[in-house]
Amino acid sequence: MFKTVQVVVLLNLANCFSQCIATPPKSGPKWSIYDLLDELGLKSFSGLLETTGFMYTLSANASGPFTVYAPTDDAFNNLPPSVMKKLQNDDNWRLLHDLTSYHLTKGNLSFLKWSNNMITSTLLDGTSIRLNIYNNNSGEPSIMSVSGATLIKADQQATNGVVQVIDRVLYSIPDDTISNYIQENSRLRKLAMLMQIAGYQDSLDKQNITLFAPSDAVFEEMGANFTNLLTNASTIKALFRNHTVNNTFYTNGLRILDGGYITNLPGTKLPIKINQGVYVSGAKLVEEDVSLKNGVLHIINKLL
Ligand SMILES: *[C@@H]1O[C@H](CO)[C@@H](O)[C@H](O)[C@H]1NC(C)=O
Ligand SMILES: *[C@@H]1O[C@H](CO)[C@@H](O)[C@H](O)[C@H]1NC(C)=O
Ligand SMILES: *[C@@H]1O[C@H](CO)[C@@H](O)[C@H](O)[C@H]1NC(C)=O
Ligand SMILES: *[C@@H]1O[C@H](CO)[C@@H](O)[C@H](O)[C@H]1NC(C)=O
Ligand SMILES: *[C@@H]1O[C@H](CO)[C@@H](O)[C@H](O)[C@H]1NC(C)=O
Ligand SMILES: *[C@@H]1O[C@H](CO)[C@@H](O)[C@H](O)[C@H]1NC(C)=O
Ligand SMILES: *[C@@H]1O[C@H](CO)[C@@H](O)[C@H](O)[C@H]1NC(C)=O
Ligand SMILES: *[C@@H]1O[C@H](CO)[C@@H](O)[C@H](O)[C@H]1NC(C)=O
Repeated sequence: MFKTVQVVVLLNLANCFSQCIATPPKSGPKWSIYDLLDELGLKSFSGLLETTGFMYTLSANASGPFTVYAPTDDAFNNLPPSVMKKLQNDDNWRLLHDLTSYHLTKGNLSFLKWSNNMITSTLLDGTSIRLNIYNNNSGEPSIMSVSGATLIKADQQATNGVVQVIDRVLYSIPDDTISNYIQENSRLRKLAMLMQIAGYQDSLDKQNITLFAPSDAVFEEMGANFTNLLTNASTIKALFRNHTVNNTFYTNGLRILDGGYITNLPGTKLPIKINQGVYVSGAKLVEEDVSLKNGVLHIINKLL
């Protein structure tokens, strides 16, 4: 079973493989991770390593091996302006340091060893990266995902570890569980209220789940029906179950399911539609890919 997965994955990454996993030189890798990043043209990420001092860690053989999840320059160029602004401010050293160390892990992990929902600790204390293998509508593994970024160049070997090139900067760092995030998010006050009333926190903190979280606006539109909902804990629980999927679906995994569906906890099929944005059962994802300790959360603009 696992063998088949590996073979299919290799085929799916064929474009990448023909160019970027060229026959390894007989003498083994020449470069340290830091030098290899330069060879791969990943200037923005290299720059970040210089600013934060991690270049020294990644140049030396002694403290390795490391597995580095390295975003492309395009990934940095595509950062939301608000995030970009914070990163360009050199005074924000702590933020730069945390963001950088979140992309670095101890050990030498080949993508061939990944399994869906595998968690790997990063050099940023107490945080992990989540690895996913997403199937397309034919049920075949098509995308390897790193906390919602897509792997685009795999297993670039260095003397002190391996580089996995990804198409997104991992700026959503999971430092909360889903229930804590809801509790603290100013756009999810109504959902927090429902969670409290029904005592649903523990269920939202189960591992490997996706929560589609209706924004406050959704509940405000319900008028008196929302007031009624507040009085019925079993209906609230049913509502949460309708919005929960037992697997972590980042949008890169949803985008390859256009025209297909995912299944919520009660077993209802939720159709996926991609039309610029991502739609689940007609609800639009208005805030995507919030990485949390036990899964991923998306804010939606309609009830499911
Ligand atoms: C790291 O190891 C490689 C291969 O063993 C060696 O060629 C290289 O000189 C070493 N680099 C350092 C900085 O020790
Ligand atoms: C979450 O996924 C990991 C990796 O597949 C697995 O080891 C773990 O048991 C899962 N947890 C639950 C609660 O399903
Ligand atoms: C799913 O991926 C496989 C392997 O790449 C491919 O042959 C198949 O056409 C894909 N199916 C769909 C519906 O995209
Ligand atoms: C990392 O693992 C690969 C196999 O996946 C191996 O070929 C390579 O030598 C290892 N590199 C280091 C630095 O341990
Ligand atoms: C309240 O619920 C009733 C019954 O389900 C429905 O007909 C009505 O449209 C709802 N009202 C609002 C404002 O959503
Ligand atoms: C809660 O709602 C369900 C389904 O509408 C209903 O069967 C049940 O009687 C309600 N419970 C209370 C306490 O109102
Ligand atoms: C849950 O989803 C089912 C199927 O779509 C629907 O009939 C039911 O009313 C939903 N329950 C709640 C509480 O939203
Ligand atoms: C969620 O999925 C895991 C395996 O993927 C399974 O072991 C577990 O029973 C499922 N949980 C629920 C509530 O469906």
